[in-house]
Amino acid sequence: MSDVSVTGALHSAVVVQALKSTVGENVAVFIDGKNQRVRRVYGENQICAGGLPPRDNSATRQREFYQTEKRAYLQLQSLNSPYVARNVVFDDNSQAMTMPYLGPDLFVRAQQEGWQPHARHLRQLVEMYHEYRLVKFFKFNSGRPNLYLDEKQDRLIAADFKWCTPRDLYCLTHELHMIHRDLSALDPQMPRMLQVTFSDFPADILQVAYTWLEENPLQNRHSEPEGLRRVYNLRVYLQDRFGVKILRDT
Ligand SMILES: Nc1ncnc2c1ncn2[C@@H]1O[C@H](COP(=O)(O)OP(=O)(O)OP(=O)(O)O)[C@@H](O)[C@H]1O
Ligand SMILES: [Mg+2]
Repeated sequence: MSDVSVTGALHSAVVVQALKSTVGENVAVFIDGKNQRVRRVYGENQICAGGLPPRDNSATRQREFYQTEKRAYLQLQSLNSPYVARNVVFDDNSQAMTMPYLGPDLFVRAQQEGWQPHARHLRQLVEMYHEYRLVKFFKFNSGRPNLYLDEKQDRLIAADFKWCTPRDLYCLTHELHMIHRDLSALDPQMPRMLQVTFSDFPADILQVAYTWLEENPLQNRHSEPEGLRRVYNLRVYLQDRFGVKILRDT
């Protein structure tokens, strides 16, 4: 396959890189423009965006990423989800997957074309999160760089499932932080629209967590330490207030 790395991608990755420093930080992304296919390779020796090794560059972590990604696709395919790419092929030997080229991600579309979601796209996101509830995981990274638009079907497609986690209270706090941080960029109401999809958790805890996140907005959404602090503080707050164990023993 005549791979072109993401730095030479169809949608002008030079622009992508200037706009978004996190392109392919953890997985090597190769775009085959001729065949409209994308190959994503998990391995500690891969060269990722900016010519750097993967950010989480242990062999164990990369294997976990690959397995998590594969499991998530199998689960969503078993639901016949319309919100993931079809024709995704996994190759355990090379820890790689190939999938269709999905066009510019929604971050790039917003920057380059001023793309804005319609109400129906927001409803599609709610359905997407209902599916995550059915298959019992949290996706964590459903921000615009991991979302695409199938123009023919006028439908959002989610990709990049390597961070999926089980649905427990510990991970819920992180998921809620992520949707407040990333999906409010699509629409300020988006996090509240998604609240219904977390109804497998106690309603009082959920409500308090939402209010806490709204009252404790991030000063700098790009600061990872600030994000981690916010999630930790939310966990401590909920644990104290409800007397349930949320923090993990270290
Ligand atoms: N199938 C695809 N079609 C079009 N573009 C893609 C596709 N897969 C990846 N890309 C482009 O490459 C970028 C990086 O890919 P991906 O999200 O899979 O890895 P990552 O950025 O390392 O993950 P993380 O979200 O952990 O930073 C995407 O944001 C998108 O711009
Ligand atoms: Mg990504």
